[in-house]
Amino acid sequence: MTQSLHETLVAQLPHRFEGADLDFLGDKIAGKVRDNYRVDDQRVLVVSDRLSAFDHILGLVPFKGQLLNQLAAWWFAQTHDIVPNHLIALPDPNVTVAQECQPLPVEVVVRGYITGVTTTALWYQYAQGNRHIYGMDFPDGLQKNERLPQPIITPTTKAAHGGHDERITSAEVVTRGIMDEAAWDEVQEAALTLFARGQALAAQGGLLLVDTKYEFGVAPDGTLMLIDEMHTPDSSRFWLAESYEARIAAGAEPENYDKEYVRLRYAANGYRGEGEPPPLSDGLAVAAAERYIACYEMLTGERFVPAEQPTAPRVEASLRAWWEENRD
Ligand SMILES: Nc1ncnc2c1ncn2[C@@H]1O[C@H](COP(=O)(O)OP(=O)(O)O)[C@@H](O)[C@H]1O
Ligand SMILES: [Mg+2]
Repeated sequence: MTQSLHETLVAQLPHRFEGADLDFLGDKIAGKVRDNYRVDDQRVLVVSDRLSAFDHILGLVPFKGQLLNQLAAWWFAQTHDIVPNHLIALPDPNVTVAQECQPLPVEVVVRGYITGVTTTALWYQYAQGNRHIYGMDFPDGLQKNERLPQPIITPTTKAAHGGHDERITSAEVVTRGIMDEAAWDEVQEAALTLFARGQALAAQGGLLLVDTKYEFGVAPDGTLMLIDEMHTPDSSRFWLAESYEARIAAGAEPENYDKEYVRLRYAANGYRGEGEPPPLSDGLAVAAAERYIACYEMLTGERFVPAEQPTAPRVEASLRAWWEENRD
């Protein structure tokens, strides 16, 4: 008898991928979700199952690392005509080998809808009566979760390890000397074009791309490149298109297929973002995996196929083979 997806995810709970120490690649640079290694002019990104929210690792979501890695690669392939990206190879379902770049000191957040629950969210500010937010003017009469007349860019500075990102206006990127105007214009143009492509492709799969975060970097030859990940349910909000209109008309929240689902479940259980968040329960880890997998399948139009298990020794074997082949 074949296992249902739910059974497969429950069975995977003890085998979730927390990360791996791959000393032969050099020193590990541990991010919240990805373990990074510098190998010459390349960066090896090993994507774990860690789920980060509220500035904490909440726990592990079965198959999330593989899913994020493969979904980002899919998006990179769909968008490299707009802007080059860092992807060089996928030596393992959980691993990207990328061009090492000098990351820009700003993260480029693009928002297509007015939403969010935290005090820094666009909707929170608007609901307080603020009509000048992130250095931009907003019309009266917008409803929560409504589509904006056009997508907007709200940059944040990249905080040093452990710090909080700071929200700044688009103008401040230039006035504070973070980037020169021409370079920042090029980044904004690329981000808005990527977002439009993302919305169009998501719509084909029945999803609304609500907002996202891009990271850009500069390659050694000076080329502007998209780095990190792209249009994943970690870095983006996705809503189910089919139920969107009816739900916002009824004052209900849209159906989330992204990390917001986890944040909202925490909020529903009384966590207000203060202090240490409780660990991710097994039930929520499985529910989150189901959402992430549905998101992957709707976007790509393909079934998500879990890779051979267990993950850690497989990743190590894949990278040893890659390393043998590529060192000279
Ligand atoms: N091509 C690249 N060149 C240099 N740095 C990169 C590249 N791609 C991703 N990064 C960086 O690698 C890290 C990826 O790991 P992640 O777990 O996302 O870290 P974080 O906790 O900073 O979000 C990020 O700090 C990201 O900025
Ligand atoms: Mg990151």
